[in-house]
Amino acid sequence: MPKITAIAPANIAFIKYWGKRNGSLNLPFSNSISMNLSECFTKTTVEFDEGLSDDAVKIDGKIATEKERARVSKFLDEVRKLAKMKAYAKVDSKNSFPKGTGIASSASAFAALALAGSRAAGLNLSKKELSILARLGSGSACRSTPDGFVEWKKGTKHKTSYAVQLVPPNHWDLRDIVLILSTKEKKVGSTEGHKLAPSSPFFKKRLQTLPKRINSLREALLKKDFPGFGRLLEQEAIELHIIAMTCNPPIFYLEPATWEIINKVRKWREEGVPIFFTLDAGPNVHLICESKNEKEILKRFGTIKGIQGVIVNKPTKGVHVEYPKCSL
Ligand code: PMV
Repeated sequence: MPKITAIAPANIAFIKYWGKRNGSLNLPFSNSISMNLSECFTKTTVEFDEGLSDDAVKIDGKIATEKERARVSKFLDEVRKLAKMKAYAKVDSKNSFPKGTGIASSASAFAALALAGSRAAGLNLSKKELSILARLGSGSACRSTPDGFVEWKKGTKHKTSYAVQLVPPNHWDLRDIVLILSTKEKKVGSTEGHKLAPSSPFFKKRLQTLPKRINSLREALLKKDFPGFGRLLEQEAIELHIIAMTCNPPIFYLEPATWEIINKVRKWREEGVPIFFTLDAGPNVHLICESKNEKEILKRFGTIKGIQGVIVNKPTKGVHVEYPKCSL
């Protein structure tokens, strides 16, 4: 059977997916919108082998933990079902960035596994089918399959919930500057966060107001209206954490350094620097700006203590079979 290597980017959501209306199928309550990240990616090789007695999984050079292996195996069961085969697989996966830090490693991981796994099993899925398959591994993974800027249509059932491209990567030369404040795995994973989200008294209200915000943000993205776009994506990041902090029990992802950076962003914006922030389920801050302001912003953040790493991302293509070769 062929050995296939695929590369998939992580993505940053401008409109967040938070809360699932079906936990086993990862069906969301609402649409979400994201951008693929050029420097945060997973490269995964899959090879099915009739001689194996179980799936053998390596992540970042180490044998996967039992929990990780079980999640990969469950996903590969879906691939085996589609391909009508029984063989187990050897999976070798490497990330270009630290796992579990609020950069969606599960998105790039399952998008890469969906493509490498399905091709290695002899399937040739359409873009839509690939997005649907990736979604079963991790909801946000379905957004790492199309190129560039993407919208996940929540759909009504398994077959109608998948992501589509809104505009290609070259539509808008945006930057997502990720400031890594902690590389520790977060205490409450997003699976638990999704489960708790509906217990927030503000969750219903969020679902009522989201469709308007989604339409406005999509429009600002298409028109490249940076101030309008930034204002909406920042509101969305704040709302994600309001929901997290007000669910039962509450979840606190932010750390003092996160607040320090948020305050700086607001101050610099008052001084005329066009910059906005977004956050995922973790303490790291994603600074969103246009390429023409990247240098100025990096210079300003260079002086702040507590930043353990900086990753400058451009919009990029979605999952693809490895070509050309990359060094990971
Ligand atoms: O795909 P999951 O289950 O890891 O959830 C992702 C959740 C957020 O990153 C917080 C938001 C999003 O839309 O990516």
